[in-house]
Amino acid sequence: MAQVEVLRDAAVLIDGGCIRTVGTYRELRDAHASAVVEEVRGVLFPGFVDCHTHAVFGAPRLDDHQRRALGEDYKTIASLGGGILQSVRDVRARPEAELTDLTRSRVERLLAHGSTTIEAKSGYGLDPATELKQLRALATVAADARAALVPTFLGAHEVPPEFRDRRADYVRLLCDDLIPTVAQERLAVACDVFCEPGVFDVAETRAILTAARRHGLGVKLHADELEGSGGAELAVELGALSADHLAGVSAAGVRALAGSDTVAVLLPATMIFLGTHRQAPARRLLEAGAALALATDFNPGSSPTVSLPLVMALGVSQLGLRHAEALLAVTVNAAAALGLAGDRGQIAPGLRADLVSCEVSDWREVAYWMGANLVTAVWTGGSACPLPTRSVSLGLHGEA
Ligand code: NIG
Ligand code: FE
Repeated sequence: MAQVEVLRDAAVLIDGGCIRTVGTYRELRDAHASAVVEEVRGVLFPGFVDCHTHAVFGAPRLDDHQRRALGEDYKTIASLGGGILQSVRDVRARPEAELTDLTRSRVERLLAHGSTTIEAKSGYGLDPATELKQLRALATVAADARAALVPTFLGAHEVPPEFRDRRADYVRLLCDDLIPTVAQERLAVACDVFCEPGVFDVAETRAILTAARRHGLGVKLHADELEGSGGAELAVELGALSADHLAGVSAAGVRALAGSDTVAVLLPATMIFLGTHRQAPARRLLEAGAALALATDFNPGSSPTVSLPLVMALGVSQLGLRHAEALLAVTVNAAAALGLAGDRGQIAPGLRADLVSCEVSDWREVAYWMGANLVTAVWTGGSACPLPTRSVSLGLHGEA
C-alpha cells in the first residue's frame, strides 16, 4: 500500500463511461486524433470511495456536541436521551420526501468533496416502516444522483426502546422479517451490525449477519469501536467485506484481519469528533498485512464531516499513514470494502471513469491542506458532474 504511480503530462482516454487507455497526452493525442479533449489542471485522482456513511438522517445533534464539550461521553449522552435514539425519533417523525431532500443535499456535498461512490446505511429507524423509509429515500436519491450510492441495511444499529426488555424478539424481527424484505426488494446490498458491548453482542451479531448472508446480502460490522469484544474476529469468521472502526481491536483481531480478505475500515474523524484520544492501531494492522481503508463515517452524532481529503489528512497525522497509504485507503481499498475493487478505485483500463481533479501541484497535498476543499471537477462514468455553485445546505432546509 505504500506506492502510487504518478504520471506527468498524462491523459486518460474514456470510452463508454470506462477508462480505455492511460498514457502521456502526446501518445494518446496522436493515436486518437478525433477524441474530444477536456483539459485538467492540477492532479487527477481516481474518484474517492466513501465506504462508510450514515448519510440518511434528519437534524444535526448539536446538543450532543455541546454536552461532550462539557465533559460527558458518548454513552452517558445516549443514556440522557441524546445519541442514536435521538436521531431515531427524528427520522421516524420525518416525512419520506423531507428525508429524501436532506439526503440529496448531503450526497451532493460528499460528491463536491470528491466522493464518486458513497456507501450509506439505514439505522435511524429501528422499526420496519422507518428502516424501509430510509432505504427508499436512498433509492430515490440514487436514481438521479451523479455519485454511485451503495445502500447498506443497519437495522441493528441499536436496540429500539420498545424492545428493551425483549431484545431477542428484535433480533428475530430482523432475521425473519426485515432482512428478507430488504433483500427481496433489493433495497440494500449489504447488512451491518453495531457489534459493541451494550449494543449487540457477538452471538446476536452472528445470528443477524448469518441471516443476511443467507439472503444474499454482503456482510459488514461496526466492530470493536469503543471497546473490544471480538468483532474483528467475527467479521473474519463470517467472511465480511469489512470490519469498521476497530479502535478497540485485540491482538487476535489484528491477526485474524491480516489473514483474511476482510478490509479494516478506519474512521479517524469519528474519534477526533468524539474527543477520544485513541485511534485504531493502523500501523499494526498494516504491518501484520491487513488491507486498510479510510472513510468519513458521515453521521450526525459522531462524525459530521463530508470530506474524505480531511480524513486522509487525519490518516497521516493521527494514524501514521504514508500519503500513498492514505490515498489507496480512500480509493482501491475502499472499493474493496464494498466488493467493487474490480470495477473502480484506480485510473486503469477497463475501470469506471470516475475521476476527481484537485487544484494542487504535488498529489500529496490532497492529504495536507487540512479542511480546504481542493476539488475542482468530478467525473462519474466519464461525464463531468455539475458541482454545487450555490451553497447546498448540510443542515435542515429552512427549519428554525
Ligand atoms: O459509526 N457506532 C455507531 N454508529 C455511528 C454513530 C451514529 C450516531 O451517533 O448517530 C458511528 O459512530
Ligand atoms: Fe458508523
